[in-house]
Amino acid sequence: MKFFIDTADVSEIKELSSSGFLDGVTTNPSLIKKSGRNINEVIAEICDIVPGPVSAEVTATTYEEMLKEAEVLKEIAKNVTIKVPLTWDGLKACRTLRNDDVLVNVTLCFSASQALLAAKAGATFISPFVGRLDDIGLNGMDLISDICEMYSNYPNLNTEVLVASIRNPNHVIDAAKIGADVVTLPPNVLKQLISHPLTDNGLKAFLDDWKMTGQSIA
Ligand code: E4P
Repeated sequence: MKFFIDTADVSEIKELSSSGFLDGVTTNPSLIKKSGRNINEVIAEICDIVPGPVSAEVTATTYEEMLKEAEVLKEIAKNVTIKVPLTWDGLKACRTLRNDDVLVNVTLCFSASQALLAAKAGATFISPFVGRLDDIGLNGMDLISDICEMYSNYPNLNTEVLVASIRNPNHVIDAAKIGADVVTLPPNVLKQLISHPLTDNGLKAFLDDWKMTGQSIA
């Protein structure tokens, strides 16, 4: 399973990329706003840090305008992935960009039928939002199961399921059990993945005992 990080905070990306766990980055207009930075500059910096796919989202709503924005974004670096919304214009833009071999992430997916359309449009990634479905009382992970099951019936289909809107480590475990290709993690969730109080207590006890032996290894 690939780990992407869902943020436009460059210092956070630098810190986490040194762990060697980052396979890519996703951003969206809200994350760019939160960063307080210019989109072109921030995406360029992120692409310098992380060699994997870096999603930059178009903000236009028509096919023609989306392609104009994509033209600018894809010039930033070769690992820029154009993120388009799951609308008819977005899917049409996806098909055109994929015909030119540009990586495309189709975002704001909330149903299996939408995911089917994105795959038919040749999307590199489909981004179903699990947390936002949970937020309205539905089960976001059911959608991941449905999409993975549906896609697995067509072995020639290359669209990767990128689980988005992740809120906690259980979402990551559930996505991995289902076999989703990618999770995009808010930095705090990536950090939570390692936490266990028994690890902390166990390490402390080992180190206390070791000190009492008076030995040193190196
Ligand atoms: C994915 O690409 C989106 O940027 C993101 O996961 C949305 O998450 P949110 O629902 O926490 O805003």
